[in-house]
Amino acid sequence: MTSEISSVPVGTLPPLGVVPERMHAYVIRPERFGEPMTSFQEELMPMWKIGPDEVLIKVMAAGVNYNGVWAGLGEPVNILKAHGLDHHIAGSDASGIVWKVGAGVRDWKVGDEVVVHCNHLLEPGASDKQTIWGYETPDGSFAQFSRVQGQQLLAKPPSLTWEDAASYGLTYFTAHRMLMDRAEIQPGEDVLVWGGAGGLGVFAIQLCKAAGARAIAVVSSDEKAELAMSLGAHGVINRKDFPDLQYREGETPEQKKKRFIAMKAFGKRIWDILGERKKVEVVFEHVGRSTFPASVWLAADYGRIVICGATTGYNLTFDVRHLWMKQKRIIGSHFADADSSRRANRLVSQGLVKPVMTQCFTWDEIPKAHQDMYENKIHGTVSCLVGAPRRGLKNLEETLAAMEK
Ligand SMILES: NC(=O)c1ccc[n+]([C@@H]2O[C@H](COP(=O)([O-])OP(=O)(O)OC[C@H]3O[C@@H](n4cnc5c(N)ncnc54)[C@H](OP(=O)(O)O)[C@@H]3O)[C@@H](O)[C@H]2O)c1
Repeated sequence: MTSEISSVPVGTLPPLGVVPERMHAYVIRPERFGEPMTSFQEELMPMWKIGPDEVLIKVMAAGVNYNGVWAGLGEPVNILKAHGLDHHIAGSDASGIVWKVGAGVRDWKVGDEVVVHCNHLLEPGASDKQTIWGYETPDGSFAQFSRVQGQQLLAKPPSLTWEDAASYGLTYFTAHRMLMDRAEIQPGEDVLVWGGAGGLGVFAIQLCKAAGARAIAVVSSDEKAELAMSLGAHGVINRKDFPDLQYREGETPEQKKKRFIAMKAFGKRIWDILGERKKVEVVFEHVGRSTFPASVWLAADYGRIVICGATTGYNLTFDVRHLWMKQKRIIGSHFADADSSRRANRLVSQGLVKPVMTQCFTWDEIPKAHQDMYENKIHGTVSCLVGAPRRGLKNLEETLAAMEK
């Protein structure tokens, strides 16, 4: 549909399918790289043009991820160099409404309510090379409209609010890929989940339960332990009880000895939780350098350590004899593809996995949401209202009714 509307205010909608010429967006530019309160600035931007395999969505809510902070900092890389524009709109999670479809898009139509997975294909149909939409591409979700590939769309679970639906994609689809597709967890297995109250961990626990496996969640506070248990963990361990377990660069022989004692005590705590002297079949890793030696040691014979990140450092040091002698496997995993995201999303639609949104910010608070993440004040997953005028709305009908009031 051609547009005769120049732009619409944030929190309002043009008629369905009518595309304004310009849109409000939070824009990152190299000249203001820095902390999120500085780097995220609202601007009126030209509307995205879409190609044949692309879709324009009206964003209703957007999830906050650390990659938005990195984009704004211009570190560890200047991500604008990946897409070549002089500006960047961050945001790799969204819920919204299909507003315009490219000529080659068959499965989606204007008005469909959707969530988005962020696996953006470099050469759709020709290779599975991926980039992360809203990080390595410039057209993310902290804007009234966003441009995605048709293959990135998933049906929005109807029972979820816009803000809940925008909160889970990146972390949940990653955890699902790690456990279901890469580690292939089986009913009856036990899984050690580092960061059990973190973005990935809250979903790892729920997935273990859905798969008939038992999750032992590692956390660092009573409040986080409570959250992990409420999500279905079989048991929790507070890592603060085992400070010597962490690998530290340049450790002395004395520290190494203490680390082994701590690892054994940690293993014994696992036996206590399981009620038998057995190790876990799978370790869910993303902490990296500090915990990796323990993860390799704590896995059972023939066990799997599945890893997607390295919060504490990616140069890993561990005793490889613990790997080969007991024939364990280290499995790398990175985000997810469309098929895996679709299967994961169905579990949400069926209520087997629930979003764990710990905070919801408004449009005006988008820079603050990222600043809070930068200052480590956030746990679990959080999202921001973008097009939705208030919290609690689940579809276009409810949203239009709320706008009329
Ligand atoms: N490859 C991918 O596709 C992909 C996708 C998503 C995320 N990631 C990566 O995965 C990592 C985790 O992501 P997230 O969203 O879950 O982050 P998050 O919400 O910050 O949670 C990470 C958790 O790790 C735990 N942790 C931090 N330092 C630790 C240490 N020294 N020892 C033990 N536990 C520690 C913390 O839990 P406690 O303090 O409660 O123990 C924290 O809650 C990040 O590095 C991220 O970049 C990769």
